[in-house]
Amino acid sequence: MKANRLRFRGVAMAAAGVAAVAAVVGVSAVQAQDQSSTADEIAKYRQMLADGNPAELWEAAGEEMWKKPGGPKNASLEQCDLGKGPGVVKGAYAELPRYFADAGKVMDLEQRLAWCRVKLQGLTEAEAVATPFSSSGKRSDIERLVAYVTGQSRGMPVNVSLSHPEEKRVYALGQTMFFYRGGAYDFACATCHAVDGQRIRLQELPNLLKSDGARAAYTTWPGYRVSQGEVRTMQHRIYDCLRQQRFPEPAYGSDVITALTMFLARNANGGTYDGPNLKR
Ligand code: HEC
Repeated sequence: MKANRLRFRGVAMAAAGVAAVAAVVGVSAVQAQDQSSTADEIAKYRQMLADGNPAELWEAAGEEMWKKPGGPKNASLEQCDLGKGPGVVKGAYAELPRYFADAGKVMDLEQRLAWCRVKLQGLTEAEAVATPFSSSGKRSDIERLVAYVTGQSRGMPVNVSLSHPEEKRVYALGQTMFFYRGGAYDFACATCHAVDGQRIRLQELPNLLKSDGARAAYTTWPGYRVSQGEVRTMQHRIYDCLRQQRFPEPAYGSDVITALTMFLARNANGGTYDGPNLKR
């Protein structure tokens, strides 16, 4: 993808942007106190659920789906090559995104799953990406498959390579996107995620440029979102932040999301993967 494809139509309004950032990061002493007690509450909640994250149900359902023959070819996904060879799920997520020679491009897990569903099971591309995110009464197979595959990397170090030129190019594209300002507030990812100790209302915003911040964030997605009662994937996390950034809605599985994911994942290299985790 060419860099100019990243040019969104949002009009840059620098003055409004600065005011909005000030409003976002301005925190009074009272708020700070509320925030720390809320953080304590969340920590307690996590502790409570530590032995039984509901995401385990998604992992189990995903494993069943992975092994069950389906699609026009009545094949399972067990021969899907997630980068470590056909059929190897263990540890695969910790090395994604990566370059796939058969597809001729760098893919994140969700793009790769769609690829396997098309190639192995014979689904159309549209069918392979249908219902990427659950909503009430409409459950997403993708969220379950992702929960299963990511869970199979738990405890392993994130180890994303930049040895292929395409991997380097996609990382650089992700970096460009991370700093790319636009939309009604003239925000970039960096506006909210490149400073230590920044918060919006009650939420701490990790500094995704530092390895400890990137590791803490990246290694804990996907996550079971207590507020939504669903497991949400990295695609959803970035989609949700682009929405907060007032950027155009990205297509599910788009290369822009893969590039951002590559940037975050590589910055988290060496961190111990701990997903699917639990999130507010
Ligand atoms: C307007 C501010 C804002 C912008 C701009 C923004 N985010 Fe976020 N981001 C948030 C908030 C708020 C959260 C949620 C924090 C929470 O709930 O703990 C978050 C959470 C995240 C997380 C998960 C952190 C964790 O520890 O679970 C990631 C990863 C992330 N954002 C990436 C991005 C990327 C990539 C971009 C640019 C495409 C971006 N964000 C743009 C506000 C923003």
